This record gives sequence, structure tokens and C-alpha cells, in this order.
Amino acid sequence: MRRIVVFGATSAIAAAVIARFAARGDRLHLVGRDPARLAAVASTCNSNELTTAVADFTDTDHAAALVEAARTALGGAIDLVLVAHGDLGDQARSEHDYSEAERLLRVNLLSVIALLIPLADLLARQGSGQIAVMSSVAGDRGRPRNYTYGAAKGALTIYLQGLRSRLYPLGIVVTTLKLGPVDTPMTTGHAKNSLFTTPTRLAPAIVRAIDRQTRRGREVYLPWYWRPILAIVRNTPEPLFQRLRFLSGR
Ligand SMILES: NC(=O)c1ccc[n+]([C@@H]2O[C@H](COP(=O)([O-])OP(=O)(O)OC[C@H]3O[C@@H](n4cnc5c(N)ncnc54)[C@H](OP(=O)(O)O)[C@@H]3O)[C@@H](O)[C@H]2O)c1
Repeated sequence: MRRIVVFGATSAIAAAVIARFAARGDRLHLVGRDPARLAAVASTCNSNELTTAVADFTDTDHAAALVEAARTALGGAIDLVLVAHGDLGDQARSEHDYSEAERLLRVNLLSVIALLIPLADLLARQGSGQIAVMSSVAGDRGRPRNYTYGAAKGALTIYLQGLRSRLYPLGIVVTTLKLGPVDTPMTTGHAKNSLFTTPTRLAPAIVRAIDRQTRRGREVYLPWYWRPILAIVRNTPEPLFQRLRFLSGR
């Protein structure tokens, strides 16, 4: 039984992962923005050992209090943190309207850092624990279809690399979940190709990746096939990349 807090618990991917944690008897504290959706996720868990809290994570002034409330709700210690919230936003708008670009950086990067600062300090004081964060393959190379969101996720991935090395000597594991496209409300309206997966198919792989890395954190591509694909995407020289319009175009 692990004491787990999930930030962004109403995400479709998080909800599928939460169901698996609940089924194996983990103790859960779920934090999300929408009270009705949060209640719906909690109701599927069928667990007495479950607490919830409502928060908009862009209210970063409250981040430390949210973390402390989670620690209290879980009985004084946290074994695992899963940070799942995110927003793909409106890429076209973000290219011309700074307020949308700033909003995407606040939701996908700054609000996560605001949580990670008190969480890392708490786990360091405990001398144990694991932090898992949902990042994205979109953060591996900027592309016109989602580069504002991708910039936030790429910066988040770098931030987690540094945090991983800071916490490694203390035995605290930081796991970066680099997810490929998933059929969720975030991608409603996107054309679905064969590389898309679903929350139900992805959740076991996420839980496995988190469990495997209890001792050693790193970056995991999920599903697995994104690791070789992204190796090619990242390493394609710029002149060739620009000629390959399926990569560099919208
Ligand atoms: N779907 C994909 O293709 C994909 C690919 C790569 C990475 N990811 C990442 O995977 C994670 C989960 O995404 P998903 O596909 O499950 O998306 P989703 O179902 O659309 O969920 C997004 C979640 O983020 C929450 N959220 C957004 N802004 C928030 C804020 N200011 N405060 C609190 N919560 C906020 C939403 O809360 P509400 O319920 O209140 O709206 C929702 O629970 C995200 O980090 C996403 O970036 C997704």
C-alpha cells in the first residue's frame, strides 16, 4: 500500500491510472479543479482510504498549502506524487496572442514547478518517495502544430532532469513520463492515426513504469515505440527536417 497524491486527478489518463492504484489498495489523495469530475473519478475507486481536494493549479500561491494538505490527508507522509494536469491550448492563437502563450506556460510549466518545489522539499525531509510527472513527446523537438505547449513540456522535462539529479543522492526517484498522443478530451478533434493510444491501454504501462523505477528514476517514453521514433525526430538534421513536411509542417 502506497500513499499517493495525484495532482490533475480529473485527467482522463490520470483517472485510468488512479483506478489501477485503487484496485491494488493504495491510499489516495486526489486533487483536481472540477469538483463534479473529481467526485466522479473518486466514486469509481470504491475506496474508504480516499480523500480529495479542489484546486486550480495556476493559483500558485496555494501550491505549498496543497502539498501540506496532501501530506496531512495521507497520514503524515507521501510515497508517490503523480502530476498529471496539462492543457494543449490553442496553438494558432498562442502564436499571435501573448496571453494564450503565457497561459500555456503557466498551466504546463509554472504551475507544475510551483508544486514540485514544496513536494521535493517534503520528500527530501522524509528521505524517501517518488515523483512522477506527465510530460510529452511534444517537448523533444519544436513543431508548428504544438510548439507553445511543446516548449512548456520541454522545459518541464529539463527541470525534472535537474530535480532528478538533485534528489538522486537522497534516494528519491523522479520519473518523467514522456507520453505520445492519447485519445482524451485534450485531443478531441485531432485526427487519430495508428500511433494514438487510449487511457485504458496506457494506464498499465504508466503504473509499470512508475513501479519499476522505485529505485532509479529516469525518462520513459510511453507507449514504448515513441523512444525510437523520437530518437529519429530529435536527431534529424535541420535542412532534412525542413524538407520532411510530415514532420516540420502543420
Ligand atoms: N492526451 C495526449 O495526447 C497527451 C500526450 C502527451 C502528454 N499528455 C499529458 O498527459 C497529461 C494528462 O492529459 P490528458 O490527455 O489526460 O488530458 P485531459 O483529460 O484533457 O486532462 C487534462 C487535465 O488537466 C487539468 N487542468 C488543466 N488546467 C488546470 C488547472 N489550471 N488547474 C487544475 N487542473 C487543470 C484538467 O482539469 P479539468 O478537469 O478541470 O479541466 C484535466 O483534469 C497532461 O499533462 C498532458 O499534457 C497528454
